[in-house]
Amino acid sequence: MDEFRLRKAVESDLQEIIRLWKQNIKTINTASDIADFLHQSPNYFFVAVPMSAKSASTAEKLIGFVGGAVRGGHGHISGIAVDKEYRNGKVGEKLINAVERKFIDDAFETVTLEVRKSSRSAMRFYEKQCYKPSYIVKGYYADGEDALVYAKKIDTRR
Ligand SMILES: CC(C)(COP(=O)(O)OP(=O)(O)OC[C@H]1O[C@@H](n2cnc3c(N)ncnc32)[C@H](O)[C@@H]1OP(=O)(O)O)[C@@H](O)C(=O)NCCC(=O)NCCS
Repeated sequence: MDEFRLRKAVESDLQEIIRLWKQNIKTINTASDIADFLHQSPNYFFVAVPMSAKSASTAEKLIGFVGGAVRGGHGHISGIAVDKEYRNGKVGEKLINAVERKFIDDAFETVTLEVRKSSRSAMRFYEKQCYKPSYIVKGYYADGEDALVYAKKIDTRR
């Protein structure tokens, strides 16, 4: 697999983040919802860029992103995705580590996220990252599916 590097997201990444979100995550979020997430929490969005991508002032191709936010006094992961051909190469793990480090820097102690009850593979990924299933929210998603809320205590000394 291509080497990759991580960096904070910038405004010119928006179209690629929307593409990754819509292609990889079962969502009803519109492009405008995703733009709002980025604009409200730009410090908690990180992207993965293949090393082979030329660095230019125009938008770079992305292979993954993670989007976080502050919700209810703790860190929250709103979305994470890696393009299919780049999966199982630690891109997702590095992205989640990057947003967790930012939450630690900002003195948050817990990170939460929701997963569709049917998304077994996302659950296995989060469990590998030491997230623990916490509780179910019935009918959380607009199509009526339940969400399983995961939480992780993050080490503020790291
Ligand atoms: C979930 C996702 C981001 C993981 O990204 P990735 O780059 O493939 O994950 P990594 O390579 O960093 O995996 C890290 C660890 O999790 C494990 N893992 C990743 N996906 C897994 C899966 N589907 N089933 C079981 N384990 C999985 C890996 O084996 C690895 O474990 P290891 O440390 O023992 O080798 C990616 O599969 C994806 O984009 N899925 C679709 C979108 C999605 O479901 N997002 C989450 C809901 S918003």
